[in-house]
Amino acid sequence: MVVRFSPFSVTLSQQSHHRRRSSCFSKQVTVSCSYGMKRNELERPQILSSALGNSDGSRVFVVSDLHTDYDENLKWVECLSTVNYKDDVLLVAGDVAETYKTFFVTMSLLRERFEHVFYVPGNHDLWCRREGKNYVDSLEKFNKLLDACKRIGVETNAKAVGALGIIPLFSWYHESFDKEKDITGYRIPSLEMACKDFHACNWPNGLSNGDISLSLYFDALNDKQMEVIKEIQKTCDHIITFSHFVPRQELCPEKRMLFYPKLPKIIGSDSLEDRIRSIHGAHGRKDASSCHVFGHTHFSWDAVVDGIRYVQAPLAYPRERKRRMIGGENWLPFCLYADKNFSNRLNPCFWSNYYSVNPRKPHDTKLAPWVARFYKKNKV
Ligand SMILES: [Fe+2]
Repeated sequence: MVVRFSPFSVTLSQQSHHRRRSSCFSKQVTVSCSYGMKRNELERPQILSSALGNSDGSRVFVVSDLHTDYDENLKWVECLSTVNYKDDVLLVAGDVAETYKTFFVTMSLLRERFEHVFYVPGNHDLWCRREGKNYVDSLEKFNKLLDACKRIGVETNAKAVGALGIIPLFSWYHESFDKEKDITGYRIPSLEMACKDFHACNWPNGLSNGDISLSLYFDALNDKQMEVIKEIQKTCDHIITFSHFVPRQELCPEKRMLFYPKLPKIIGSDSLEDRIRSIHGAHGRKDASSCHVFGHTHFSWDAVVDGIRYVQAPLAYPRERKRRMIGGENWLPFCLYADKNFSNRLNPCFWSNYYSVNPRKPHDTKLAPWVARFYKKNKV
């Protein structure tokens, strides 16, 4: 996600250590912010039985927003163990790299490290601004990325891995996804000014970033895998769906909390949530066996809504990791599934933890202090 006004975050260190022979430790971290919130969080590596090398079946790791155009992020991928994940699955929830060349290098590195890699494209992956005349438009680049995945052995279609069904879902955002009250009275830049997608993507006639057409177009591509999905629904004990974009507005902080309060207009898709519910059911599958992984907003998230667990585990930009203390070089992909079960919650996840104890108040449009000082009021 690139907006010229980065969404404010007070997220905490996100350390997920899953080394097969790591030792268990924890330490207390105190974090405070200017909105009167003060939390003690455990910086806690998650130690699974599988971490000690006796895993029963494949482990599934998740990550989004690798942004390996940044040298530090490419280095992070290069530094992932070439031994520890040999039997494992990695889900990459979009925004790998802006250029095809870096995308190809990154996905090849991941494929060398994991037994299975699944991928869905994000908005940055479809940017054309640094590709010269290599692509007529972002749709052609989209198809070239899927072809590259096929060559490298990266999955972009639904598939069962043992008793676990993994379903990548194509999607794009639309402005009407945002149903909450707008912030008024401040000079907040337009979507076109703040969001680079409006300039860095090119779309053929009939498709536009400014309406619902892209959301409907990408969602319809998922129809092609409905037969495989039906089979997965019948035969698999657990199902993980994943997308780059956000399926529900509750999975993003309220506007008054965000550095760019219009962010909810460029993050999510109603068709995506409908698609997810058509797979998992209106209330999720029985025995807490439904999970959806997403990316894009760079907020770590882990919450259950209407019977489905929603998880975001972004690598994000180097500057965001520094500012948010997401964990820097010690951060590893989050292990979501091991020993034929879903793992404990991703921790820490500042905002989903915040909303687990504080109700959402979308009618409250008074900007949080850290946001208010950033914007000038409209002249009356
Ligand atoms: Fe994105």
